[in-house]
Amino acid sequence: MTAEENNMKTIKVMTVFGTRPEAIKMAPLIHELERTEGVQSIVCVTAQHRQMLDQVMDIFHLKADYDLDIMQPRQTLATITTKSLTGLDEVLEQAEPDIVLVHGDTSTTFAGALAAFYHKIPVGHVEAGLRTFDKYSPFPEEMNRKLTGQIAALHFAPTERNRKNLAAEGITDGVIVCGNTVVDAIHSTVNPDFRFRDETLAQLDYDGRRVILVTAHRRENYGAPMEHIMRALRRLADDYDDIDIVYPVHLSPYVRETAAKYLSGHPRIHLIEPLSVDEMHNLMGRSYLVMTDSGGLQEEAPSLGKPVLVLRRETERPEAIEAGTVRLAGVEEEDIYSMARTLLDDPDAYQTMAHAVNPYGDGQTSRRIVQMIRYYFRQADTMPDSFCP
Ligand code: UD1
Ligand code: UDP
Repeated sequence: MTAEENNMKTIKVMTVFGTRPEAIKMAPLIHELERTEGVQSIVCVTAQHRQMLDQVMDIFHLKADYDLDIMQPRQTLATITTKSLTGLDEVLEQAEPDIVLVHGDTSTTFAGALAAFYHKIPVGHVEAGLRTFDKYSPFPEEMNRKLTGQIAALHFAPTERNRKNLAAEGITDGVIVCGNTVVDAIHSTVNPDFRFRDETLAQLDYDGRRVILVTAHRRENYGAPMEHIMRALRRLADDYDDIDIVYPVHLSPYVRETAAKYLSGHPRIHLIEPLSVDEMHNLMGRSYLVMTDSGGLQEEAPSLGKPVLVLRRETERPEAIEAGTVRLAGVEEEDIYSMARTLLDDPDAYQTMAHAVNPYGDGQTSRRIVQMIRYYFRQADTMPDSFCP
């Protein structure tokens, strides 16, 4: 008799998340959990983000069993963490999951892992092992993911490099290399016949003009770096009349004030509201270039063959840089401006970067994660295969 036949006690798996990117990357995994016999999926959101989280929940038809509804305008790191921890304490007491899954490196991630630890519930860390080795950049994400790594029993590392980062910290048990669930998500959203609901996007001329997709929101870029980024974008829009810069602006008041101050009122710059993820992925697919400080976009654009200029000093995602589709542009106005110019003026430089690569996943990540959870609880006989790009 196999373990599968032998031991079909239902495993209660609670996913805990709170922000837009966590929801996008947890969605395919939740769907896989829901499809799996012998597994009960329980969803708990902190709602560290409110509107941006709800957009994702709607588009992927996710329903929260528990919603802590913690978001406040201009919230601090301490309030996100303490409100999540207190709320989760009660939820875990009630729901008694067998395992808690957290994602990535937000304050919700760390609070989720800590709350589970206090209840002696094992933690599975999805998107484990990303590191810059600078505790203040990205801030506070580098520390959130390191602390979560210390607590977790299972580590779902997207790439071999991420596995090695964990090994260097002495974390070797319960680690699998499984790709990133974001690639599972993008397989379900991108469609050549997609029609944009957003009016600005529906009216853009994707064949006749060049669309530059921009996002920027990181806390460590607040202040001078964000201002440099905005000034470089404005100069590009002034100097090229065949481009359209599309910037769906994050709901953080700081980001919105800065974007409005530097970029509003320009005929070739479109400041729009946060996009639903299906619109975002399809816009990316039709863009010429992506300029971003986002983590998720660095993973998505390479699989769509779109060059990316990363508006940061470092990245925990060097795989696509090595594959040649992503470059670090930094946070100085002149560097950002001149790197973008090269990609707008030099077709060879552009073509060198514009090829599709998939260093972050093959669309099978959620399946591997669920199999690993079942193996951990002796419900499956074998560990999953590893992701190899
Ligand atoms: C958070 C994460 C960051 C992640 C990012 C993804 C932390 C510390 N930061 O940063 O790792 O990259 O999410 O976007 O966990 N707001 C709204 N509505 C929303 C979302 C945000 O109004 O739906 C506003 C609120 O005023 C909120 C502010 O944005 O206080 C900042 O949100 P917060 O989650 O604290 O930080 P992010 O910069 O979004
Ligand atoms: N995204 C979206 N709408 C937007 C901007 C981003 O759906 O208007 C998606 C994007 O495709 C990616 C994720 O949100 O999947 C990235 O989120 P964000 O940049 O907020 O956070 P990070 O990845 O930097 O943590």
